[in-house]
Amino acid sequence: MPPITRIGVLTGGGDAPGLNAVIRAVVKSAYNAGIECIGLEDSFDGLLEPGRSRTLTPRDVRGIMRLGGTILGTVNRGNPFANFIETSEGAKNYSDRCVEMFHKMGLGALVVIGGDGTLAIAHQFCGVGVPIVGVPKTIDNDIVGTTNCFGFDTAVAFATDAIDRLHTTAEAHRRIIVVEVMGRYAGWIALYAGVAGGADAILIPEIPFDLQAVGDRLRERDHWGAHFSIVVVAEGAFPAGGKLALLEEAHDGHVERLGGIGAKVADALGTLTGKETRSVVLGHLQRGGAPTSFDRVLATRFGGKAVDLIRQGEFGTMVAFDPPDIIARPLAEVVGKTKTVPMNSDLLLTAKALGVTFGD
Ligand code: F6P
Repeated sequence: MPPITRIGVLTGGGDAPGLNAVIRAVVKSAYNAGIECIGLEDSFDGLLEPGRSRTLTPRDVRGIMRLGGTILGTVNRGNPFANFIETSEGAKNYSDRCVEMFHKMGLGALVVIGGDGTLAIAHQFCGVGVPIVGVPKTIDNDIVGTTNCFGFDTAVAFATDAIDRLHTTAEAHRRIIVVEVMGRYAGWIALYAGVAGGADAILIPEIPFDLQAVGDRLRERDHWGAHFSIVVVAEGAFPAGGKLALLEEAHDGHVERLGGIGAKVADALGTLTGKETRSVVLGHLQRGGAPTSFDRVLATRFGGKAVDLIRQGEFGTMVAFDPPDIIARPLAEVVGKTKTVPMNSDLLLTAKALGVTFGD
């Protein structure tokens, strides 16, 4: 096989701090290896028309490591294998068009930076002959096969800072403050930020909660003079026998939107404990802003490794953090699964041993 001289890079799904750091690492390491890098705009949409991509040189990625968001744009919708789209050459099947343009653009491989949905699409494209290396991204940290996704550490740092701030006002007013953090189907952000912020209760999707148990534990705190409490709840947490709090049902290729559990928990805890309660939703603040140094380093290592794998012809893989190493995992082993907090997680058990309630 002739050596690859041109590759594409794209970002898909919800953004996460560190996307630009990966793009920078891909562009610079490719450039130094004599490989041209084409930035594809708005995920796989960048393959639909020639005008939706641009050559990226080290000059184009100067200074972007510390920036949140993605210089390439991103979209979060539907399965391209099921969609038709209008192109300048008429209506075409989306995935056929992407494959056609991949070849027309003279690309030898793609670096696909995305979460579970985008990586699943990447895996499908591998199946129709597009050589791809994936890079795992999500603040939720729920992609299997990698200890960390970049973006997670930044989200946890932000949420921890928010909890620190809420502690002082909760204590001043003797209130219970409920902090809703992201985490659709996995409670990693809630667990890490809850422990780092010294929360009294942490509610995660993996443990359906009983609010009576939470209320009892919070009331006990009064007995030893702690008249306030902090409760961290993942957006995907739900009561035992109850349902997820949804802002919007799934529709037309869009996944369901979660949100609102924090306010419900705060209301119920107010009734159960007789205390004043407030709730705060951290939402997209957790995804914005500059990545932490940990995420910058991880993202840089991921980007560099992705280019290494392309040069070695190791396609259909995802770069992964297996401390202390960055390794390659087959995409087939990763897609369609969710890495949830295991019940024997040492952090979970340690938090319980310290008296944190998970509502179970
Ligand atoms: O998957 C990452 C994530 O931030 C989730 O935690 C959250 O539920 C979702 O994305 C929000 O997506 P959107 O930006 O589409 O509202």
